Parts: sequence; C-alpha cells; structure tokens
Amino acid sequence: MLSLIEPRLDAAGSIGYKRSTLQGAGEGKAVMGATARKVQSKSVASRQYAPYLEATWGIKNHWYPAAFSKELPERGTKGVAIAGHEIVLRRARGKVFALQDRCTHRWVKMSDKPLRVSDDHMTCWYHGFCYGLEDGVLKTIVGAPSDPLIGNVRIRTYPVREVSGIIFLFVGDEDYQPIPPLETDLPIRITDVPNPPGYLLDREGYVRGIHRTANSNWRLGVENGFDPGHILIHYDNIIIAATERKVFLGAEPITADAVKMIDEPDGPKGIMNMYYDQTAYRLVQENPVVKMKVHGRVDYPARTSMYLPGVLLVENWPMQDWAQYEWYVPIDDKRHEYWEVVVKTCANDDEREEAEYLYESAIEKIALRDFNDRDIFAREAMQQVYGTGLGWDKEVLCSMDTIIVGWRKLVSQHNRGIQEPPERAE
Ligand code: FES
Ligand SMILES: [Fe+2]
Repeated sequence: MLSLIEPRLDAAGSIGYKRSTLQGAGEGKAVMGATARKVQSKSVASRQYAPYLEATWGIKNHWYPAAFSKELPERGTKGVAIAGHEIVLRRARGKVFALQDRCTHRWVKMSDKPLRVSDDHMTCWYHGFCYGLEDGVLKTIVGAPSDPLIGNVRIRTYPVREVSGIIFLFVGDEDYQPIPPLETDLPIRITDVPNPPGYLLDREGYVRGIHRTANSNWRLGVENGFDPGHILIHYDNIIIAATERKVFLGAEPITADAVKMIDEPDGPKGIMNMYYDQTAYRLVQENPVVKMKVHGRVDYPARTSMYLPGVLLVENWPMQDWAQYEWYVPIDDKRHEYWEVVVKTCANDDEREEAEYLYESAIEKIALRDFNDRDIFAREAMQQVYGTGLGWDKEVLCSMDTIIVGWRKLVSQHNRGIQEPPERAE
C-alpha cells in the first residue's frame, strides 16, 4: 500500500491532515485512523517536555562558548550571535569584555566596523558614542562631549569567563542572579573508570578545536550528538575504517540502567549513555535481516553524555585518553554554531608536543571534519521538516530514542528559562 498522510496548518494555525491520492479510499481511511491515534498519543507524550518544544531560540541564563581566545587578540573586536543576542567582544589590556552589539544612537552594529579610540571604551564607528567597557554606560560622544545623554544611556553587558583557550559568555536575562559558576554548565569530570579522559578545565590539558555554523535548530544538533542509533552514518568514516574500530550498528536499551541521569546539587545536569555496561545496553553487532555486520576487530564503546545547555562529552574520543566536547550554540531559530573541542591531559612538554602532532596531522582532518561532517549533514536533513515545527509531531521514535526523550524532559525540568525570540526579548 502506498500512502502519504501529510500534516498541514489550517487557517487557524492548528494542525490538520490531508491525504494524498496514492491509495484507494478504503485503505486511506484505515491509515488516517491509525495516524490520528498515533498523533494523539504523541501529543500526550510531548506534553511531558513542552518547555523543550518551546525552546526554539535556546535556553537562557546559561554559559555558552562565544570564541576561541586566539580569535580575539589584544585590542581585537569580534561580533557573535547567541540565542538571538547580538554581542560584541572586545579585548583590552588582556581582559575580555562583552557588550550589546547595537549602538543606542541609530542601532548599527558596532562590530561591523570596529573602531578603537581607547582601551576603556567601546566606540561606535558611526557618530562616536563611547560606552564604558565595564558597565556599558555612555561615557562621552567624540564630537559632542557636553551632550546631556552622557551618563544617562547605556548598552547591556554580559558576564565573561575565559578559560582553557575559550571565551564563555553567560547569556540570558541581564538581571539574572546569582550567576552560577561555569562548571555547572559543563560536563562532569569523569572519575568512575580507570584512566579517565581529560577534563576541559584541567590546567595541564591540551585543548584544540574548531567551530562552524550548521543550518539546523540547536536541538537537532544536540539530539544528533548522543543519539545511540545514529552511529550508522559513521559506518564507513575514515577514522573507523583506518583504526579497525568495531563501531556498533545501534544500541538497544535492555534495562533502565542504560541511561543514567546526572543531577548533582548545584552541579551539572546531564544524561549518560551507559555503553560500558553491556547488561544494560545491547550494542548491536549484526543484523541478519539485512546481512549486515560491523567491520573492524577493536571494541570501542566510547561513552557519551549530554549536559545543559547542550554540551556533549565523548570519552576516549577521537583517541584513547582524549575527550571530545561539543556545543550546539543557538545562533537563531534555524542555525547553531557547532563547536568541536578535543582535550588531552599532558604531563609534560613531550606529551604536549605529541598531542599537537596528532591534532595537526590527523584529529582535525579525520575526526572533527570527515567524521563530524556526517553529523552536520544529518542535522540539516532533519531541519527540512523540524524547521516547519511539524517534525516534533510527525516523528515516530523507536527504542534507541529513549535517551533523547530523557534529554527533552531533563531540559524541561532544569533549564533556567526559555529564550524568547529577539522581538520579544528586552
Ligand atoms: S549609530 Fe552609533 S554613534 Fe550613531
Ligand atoms: Fe555522530
């Protein structure tokens, strides 16, 4: 039977269904009935994570990476967009400042044409409004130093933390207090296994990476990152074939222990795929129906976990003893900045040199690019329907998606606010 049941929005904005003409009337009726029941039960399920479904522009009042330190040299200026916030970064006397990237005078973006007249001000290139880097208050106007506006208008500022070569910003409500430590919005330090991989904030860590823009909503990036079923898209990546890694076809949860919630008091909130416990997860090696088997001979269950506000940890990836962190930073409702960062603990300069060699000669090329290019492809493919808003209703999730539903509920419970679209934000 060939049938297509397609959702459409009616004039009132509610979702109805139209039937294509590819089947007979009797068949179509039966299929429509089944689909309607499915959609109804789906809407019941999705109510359990309704705030997540509203978070098209991201979740607010969290720490997000904005730039690598090396992207902002001394006296440098850089514009970024995070969850609809336009922000200008500026480094002065070694310290990083973050301010609203719109001048209150005529609302141009100051980062469009950086103008530096002093190390104390963010100066607008158009008519010379000079805002204090620390507080955003208008301190002077280059051509009107007696203007009564001086001292009486301001642009907002954002809390900054620069660590391990990454500039993080706390993005959300300007009056949000108290601002939680950055560590609460990062993956936990792994301690429950022998030889745990490196931790981002360790001083002896070697940290490198890239970031690039992907054309999908941030949630599709997150859900792709730790999806136990998506490993199929990596079946023939260079890093898999060249290292003879046995990468499973998919992971079926057997018991509730397959998924572990991480909910530390005043600490990170996350969810972990317990791949190391194969009494809890069945890592599928073979599917006789399609006569498909994993290649390779080296078992390689790299454990994954995801934390608010959308940061992934992959242990022992892309190499043993390394860790890969990924962020899916909302830019707007249709794009996210995809951050791929690898960390290796190094005890001395020789180890650091070796890490550098591996990164430059292999890791960026075959892991961060060749391997993760497939992930961007998958997210952008999902965006075609999720971008209309209908994917959340149309999807038919399977057993491998258990942790994804868990993630949606976790975000719904622990977010510090749902980001409003820019036109509704302060
Ligand atoms: S638009 Fe910025 S000073 Fe006029
Ligand atoms: Fe992937």
